[in-house]
Amino acid sequence: MAETVLAAVAWPYANSALHAGQIAGAYLPADIFSRYHRMRGNRTLMVSGSDVHGTPVTIRAEEEGSTPEAVIERAHASFLDTFERFGIAFDLFTSTGTANHAEVTQDLFLRLHEQGHIYEAEMTMLFDPEAERFLPDRYVEGECPYCGYDGARGDQCDECGRTMDALDLIGPRSRLSEATPEPRRTNHCFLKLSDFNDQLLEWVDPQTHWRPAVRNFTLGLLREGLHDRAITRDIEWGVPVPLEGWDEKRIYVWFEAVIGYLSATKEWAQQSGQPDAWEAWWKDPAARTVYFQGKDNVPFHTTIWPSMLLGYGGLNLPYDVPANQYVTISGSKASSSRNWAIWMPDYLDRHDPDPLRYGLTAMMPETSDTDFTWAEYVRRNNDELVARWGNLVHRVLTLTRRHFDARVPGAEAPPAPESAALLARVDAAFDEVGADIDGLRLRAALQAAMGVAQEANRYLDERAPWAAVREDRESAAETLSTAIQAIAGLSSLLQPFLPFTSPRARALAGCEGEIEAAGWARTPVAPGTPLPEPAPLFRKLDESLIDEEEARLGQ
Ligand code: MF3
Ligand code: ZN
Repeated sequence: MAETVLAAVAWPYANSALHAGQIAGAYLPADIFSRYHRMRGNRTLMVSGSDVHGTPVTIRAEEEGSTPEAVIERAHASFLDTFERFGIAFDLFTSTGTANHAEVTQDLFLRLHEQGHIYEAEMTMLFDPEAERFLPDRYVEGECPYCGYDGARGDQCDECGRTMDALDLIGPRSRLSEATPEPRRTNHCFLKLSDFNDQLLEWVDPQTHWRPAVRNFTLGLLREGLHDRAITRDIEWGVPVPLEGWDEKRIYVWFEAVIGYLSATKEWAQQSGQPDAWEAWWKDPAARTVYFQGKDNVPFHTTIWPSMLLGYGGLNLPYDVPANQYVTISGSKASSSRNWAIWMPDYLDRHDPDPLRYGLTAMMPETSDTDFTWAEYVRRNNDELVARWGNLVHRVLTLTRRHFDARVPGAEAPPAPESAALLARVDAAFDEVGADIDGLRLRAALQAAMGVAQEANRYLDERAPWAAVREDRESAAETLSTAIQAIAGLSSLLQPFLPFTSPRARALAGCEGEIEAAGWARTPVAPGTPLPEPAPLFRKLDESLIDEEEARLGQ
């Protein structure tokens, strides 16, 4: 039976272009997962959008001397362009700046307020006496009280991953002025996370399919006990608080950004002409909602958002939160300020998408941080994509063209046992690779698919149709025909990972029709089918690329 699957992907702050670390952390795994589920014929929806209200956006606007609107417009256009050119196939990539999002956010806020899960109270916040304003979390930096890291921000410590109250920072500094911020009283709304602590513990504990790092981290937070959190701020940029007398304040960005998963599903349903269609993902308990993100986002998705969902009632809790660890670049943490990153628009101006999709999947940081190097990128392109997969396709199709008149050869004799075994292996791989993708073991999934390509190469080497064609034309015909079937199968197996080159491989093997519409199975190719002129799927890369690209880092 068809399943219902939501790929809910972290909303990037609309303050700059995307870099490869973010792509490996969330967008690429979500895309592979969604493409697979679409091929399976499952009811699949992949949504996200620009996170436009955070202080990362206002800080960028202030630094540039422009407006948040200008910063957002540029970033949003850049995201869409990257997704298009890198093959990240969203069903909807919207923004938290829409009227629909504000409406859904305010509805959720009011319901939680009515139920007593949101209460009003005075609190102390840091105030910048020189700038004469309260400081949003990200405008304050200082030493982390948990791990001692000195660059911690008021909302979170990037070193130990804890979420923070800016007041707990040791030696706080304002980003707006030289002044030392001082505590002042102000009125705010609080989310009563303590209401949900026990329910969350009961819910998280049996989620043994979660990655251990995500589950253990969350259990740790819950065992320590969640603290109520202020969910409004003294700022002008954000979703208005739907309460009388609160015009001067806005809803805290994290409270509303996570609501984006729900508001985007509703927006998609509106656009599809079936306004109630969103309920399939949010109300059917059999639907699976899977949240893709980097590890710094985990507490928001495993404690705060589930609390909001529990408080609202009747909506599905996350099925899984397969957060990834980080990708370092040539041994160092990615950093925008030091320009130590692979910027996607920049990459895509110079290189093809599939080799990076391949490289990032092969080293996806599923259980620990992993390191990207250009040397490894070139090696994987040349030794794996070109040598194992591209050459297989090229060898088989040029031989067929030369000796069998560019048509899939028809075999009179029954297939050799080796041939039947190879095709059985290809067919079995759909279950194996599929289970790994579904379980978010994408490195293993890609490795399994490439293992089949390796076996097809071995089969070809053993049967040597280039020699056989002279003495035993029947056997060569049978071998090439089998290899063409295997290539057709491999193109489908690789499609979730390599959506630019796989349709080409499929067409070279003589298959017609859209690759994703053909489903998660091998498409058989009939004898006599004409084959197009072979063209290489991948380009062999020169080693000089390594130095060139490394020289760009940090410039
Ligand atoms: N904008 C946040 C970040 O880039 C992620 C927000 S994800 C969502 O870290 F939960 F808010 F949607
Ligand atoms: Zn810390």
